[in-house]
Amino acid sequence: MTASFSTTLTRTPKPRPDDAALIFGKSFTDHMFLMDYEDGKGWHDPRIVPYAPLVLDPATTVLHYAQAVFDGLKAFRGPDGAIRLFRAQRHAERLGKSCAGLCIPAPDAELVRQSFEALVAVDHEWVPRTQGTALYIRPIVIATDVMLGVHPSHRYTYFVICSPVGAYYKEGVKPVRILATDTHVRAVQGGLGELKAAANYAASLAAQQEAERQGYTQVLWLDGVERRWIDEVGTMNIMMRIGDEVVTPPLAGTILDGVTRNSILTLLRDWGMAVSERRVSIEEVMQAGRDGTLTEMWGTGTAAVVSPIGELGYKGERMRIGDGNTGALTRKLYDAIVGIQYGTAPDPHGWTSTVQVPVEA
Ligand code: COI
Repeated sequence: MTASFSTTLTRTPKPRPDDAALIFGKSFTDHMFLMDYEDGKGWHDPRIVPYAPLVLDPATTVLHYAQAVFDGLKAFRGPDGAIRLFRAQRHAERLGKSCAGLCIPAPDAELVRQSFEALVAVDHEWVPRTQGTALYIRPIVIATDVMLGVHPSHRYTYFVICSPVGAYYKEGVKPVRILATDTHVRAVQGGLGELKAAANYAASLAAQQEAERQGYTQVLWLDGVERRWIDEVGTMNIMMRIGDEVVTPPLAGTILDGVTRNSILTLLRDWGMAVSERRVSIEEVMQAGRDGTLTEMWGTGTAAVVSPIGELGYKGERMRIGDGNTGALTRKLYDAIVGIQYGTAPDPHGWTSTVQVPVEA
């Protein structure tokens, strides 16, 4: 059941971009979802309104101290015409966990899930039609106290915006080059690493810029203490195939509990494959690359789904992964997830939910 939220429709709908011209996160739909929080009053006034700038006092807390968490999920239009959200409940719950980590009172997860559905229903024409495209849904909570003292805010705004997006990479699933950094650190245990906190993304920028300067696409993050245990790649979780096993770092406080990560581990186990969530060091991976047992490596995330890794750089050594192309298992996983998302493959775990589109008068 979807709640009906107070809805104000735009009087000036925007032209929609062509599916072929979509760039990730550059255009936005006609409406947004908004809800406010105030101590003593709780979360209140959920509503759908025309997409518009937020007006913030220059002293608004979030602008100074980054008390902000977000999430990201997608709606897909299948060849059957249905619009499906992928694992909306899990994204809504994760937003709540991220809130808790930054002392933000979490909005009710069911209401958050319904906010996704309701907004996509209102902007359903914006869900692109071509295979590989989707509507990216971005829920976010920001602290809105007007005050320069450093403490948890007493007021927050929750909002959801949507962006029609193309395939994350123009060429589709394309191997990327990654650089393991032992000079920059993304997260340490006890910090924000396992939360989808805006600040984590700010912390990643300098290393990302350095990797690009050296000709790489993404950073391979190592742990912040010993600088040898693999954490994540860019903004994604990482997995590798070493021998007959798929290995991925454990959820031990510094990495995000990725929804795509969880989906892929579930599929691999469904397929009877050996999966190990364990610490894996950069030395082990480099050695496995040299002796030929490292055959595939990929990142997992909502934006790119599965991103094959063709080359790994570390301390001046550049190592090709497998033959440098997308591996067979990487491709199989991408196809399996995408099939469920577009409704062209069975969904045995009930990961998708169909959005009820309003009947036009
Ligand atoms: C994802 O892989 O979905 C991300 O986290 C990237 C997003 C911040 C654009």
